[in-house]
Amino acid sequence: MILSLHDMGYRYADGGTALAGITLTLAARRIALLGSNGAGKTTLLLHLNGSLRPSSGGLCLDGVPARYDRAALRAWRQKVALVLQDPDDQLFAATVAEDVSFGPTNLGLVEAEIRSRVDTALADMDITDLRARATHALSFGQRKRVAIAGALAMDPEILVLDEPSAGLDSSGTEHLLRTLERLAGRGVQIVFSTHDADLAYRFADVFVLLRAGEVVGQGAAEIVGANAQAFERAQVAPPLVPQLLQRLATPYPELGDAKAIRSPAALLEQLKELELTANNAARIRAGS
Ligand SMILES: Nc1ncnc2c1ncn2[C@@H]1O[C@H](COP(=O)(O)OP(=O)(O)OP(=O)(O)O)[C@@H](O)[C@H]1O
Ligand SMILES: [Mg+2]
Repeated sequence: MILSLHDMGYRYADGGTALAGITLTLAARRIALLGSNGAGKTTLLLHLNGSLRPSSGGLCLDGVPARYDRAALRAWRQKVALVLQDPDDQLFAATVAEDVSFGPTNLGLVEAEIRSRVDTALADMDITDLRARATHALSFGQRKRVAIAGALAMDPEILVLDEPSAGLDSSGTEHLLRTLERLAGRGVQIVFSTHDADLAYRFADVFVLLRAGEVVGQGAAEIVGANAQAFERAQVAPPLVPQLLQRLATPYPELGDAKAIRSPAALLEQLKELELTANNAARIRAGS
């Protein structure tokens, strides 16, 4: 399913304009939404599964204007699962297993299918051992994983996550990225918001930059990621890797297809390899 937004605006009840005419087609497999506090990320994401209804303009699912009746919302949310930033806004059942099984149970699936969905989602999030635990007695990072597992149990085509790495430690973040990568590999579209452009650069194919409810940059991550002005407009710190690659292009023209280099660790690895090759070449020349 492809979600597209057409001049979509949203105004909260108190009159504040949160989105001011967003036009955007969410077609890429991995999409990162970046913007500073109050830019409209959460508001935009809440529209993607019909939790909020645009005040102006609209949203289409596979080219068909969204409908907001019960049946349509139900079908929509089966395909698009939203993970809120704060797991406490999402979790409500007493135990982890109950919480994760809530979605599939609501879909009216048979017992065996529900069990298999829950098992898979818990395994995907590496929390099988937490199955019987009380949700309120888990750490923040554990609750966050449970919330994501709940969304995965819906077996969605599109997984929307609001700041999924906020509050996770570095190993939690690494685990999250591996999980999202695995899901994307299985064909699930991932749309997530973050303040962390370096993290986004490691994962996303497409960047969307928001500022005060407007899109101020969008396109391939390696193009937008290297556009310092777009990041300045969005008031977000740009990712480091494209800047480093620009600086290194002169001393290391062999860096070549820099598109593949998405993390500082990968860049370091590449530089070490180039140095090794250069050293070997020098040794061979000295020996001959
Ligand atoms: N429930 C609400 N009622 C009124 N205004 C709201 C509400 N929620 C958000 N806003 C306003 O809408 C705008 C966009 O907020 P939103 O939460 O979408 O931003 P955000 O990009 O997610 O920010 P953050 O990085 O802080 O999470 C802000 O100006 C905010 O004050
Ligand atoms: Mg937000």
